[in-house]
Amino acid sequence: MFETHTIVELRKKLSVARAENKRVGFVPTMGYFHEGHLTLMREAKKRADVVVVSIFVNPTQFGPNEDLEKYPVDLKRDRAMAESVGVDILFTPSAGEIYPEGYATSVNVEGIADVLCGRSRPGHFSGVATVVAKLLNIVEPDVAVFGEKDWQQLAVVRRIAADLNIDSEILGVPTVREADGLAMSSRNTYLSAGERKAALVLAKSLRIAQEMVDKNIRETAEVERAMRDVIEAESLVEIEYLEFCDPQSLAGVAEIESDTLIAIAARVGKTRLIDNAVVRPG
Ligand code: PAF
Repeated sequence: MFETHTIVELRKKLSVARAENKRVGFVPTMGYFHEGHLTLMREAKKRADVVVVSIFVNPTQFGPNEDLEKYPVDLKRDRAMAESVGVDILFTPSAGEIYPEGYATSVNVEGIADVLCGRSRPGHFSGVATVVAKLLNIVEPDVAVFGEKDWQQLAVVRRIAADLNIDSEILGVPTVREADGLAMSSRNTYLSAGERKAALVLAKSLRIAQEMVDKNIRETAEVERAMRDVIEAESLVEIEYLEFCDPQSLAGVAEIESDTLIAIAARVGKTRLIDNAVVRPG
C-alpha cells in the first residue's frame, strides 16, 4: 500500500492509474477504523481498480465544545486494517496541507444541512461539505463511498456533488451493526460498559418502529411515542432529536405512507450518538 501526506504525490500516483484506464474508488474517513469503515473499503474495491482511503480528522466540522481534541487516533492500526482489505493508496494529509495559510473558502448547503444534526451542530455540515468537496476535487474518483449511518451527511454530499458538478458516483452503504444491534461508530470507544448497554435502546427503538409499521400503524406521532417510551426508560440516554423525514429531502412527515427515514441523535452519558433506519410500509 502506498501512503502519502501530500496532494502533489497523490495526484501523481493517480494520474498513472488513470493513464492505465483504471477506475478509482475513494473512501474519505477520519480514521480509527472499525468494521463499518472496512465494509466501505470492500465496496469501493468491488467497484474500482485502485482504492484511495483518506484519513483526516477535519477540524472545521467540529464545534468549539466538541470532541476534536480527544477524537481517537491510531494510524498504525488503521494502516494494517486498510492493507488487510486491499486498499491501494492511503492519503494522510496534515491540517496545513488541506487548509494552507490564507485558505478562505467554505461550502454551505442550504435546507438539508439546516435540519436534524444541523440544528444542534451549527457549522458542522459546512465543514463536512467543504472538506468533502476538496477531497473529491483532489482524488477525482469514479466512485466515492459513504456510510448510511451518517444519512444526513450522505444527503449533503449528494447535494454538493450535484450542485458543484462533481462527476463522481456517490455510493451509500447500509449501516454496519454489532451483533447486538449497536451501530458501529468510532465514538463507541468513549462508552463505558454500562453506557454501551444503555445505547442499545436506540437500535431497539428503530426495530420497534419497523414492527409497528409492519402492523399498519402509519401515524408518526404514535410510533414516536412508542420509541420515546423505550429510549426514555433508559436513564443514561437523553434524546436530542427523534424525527421522521423524507429520506431524500429530509422534510418532516406526519404519516408513514412511503419509505420514511427515522433519525435519532442522543447523548449516552457524555457521548453523542446517532442512528437511523428507513422504515418501509407494506
Ligand atoms: O464521516 C466522516 O468520517 C467524515 O465526516 C468525512 C466524510 C470523512 C469528512 O470529514
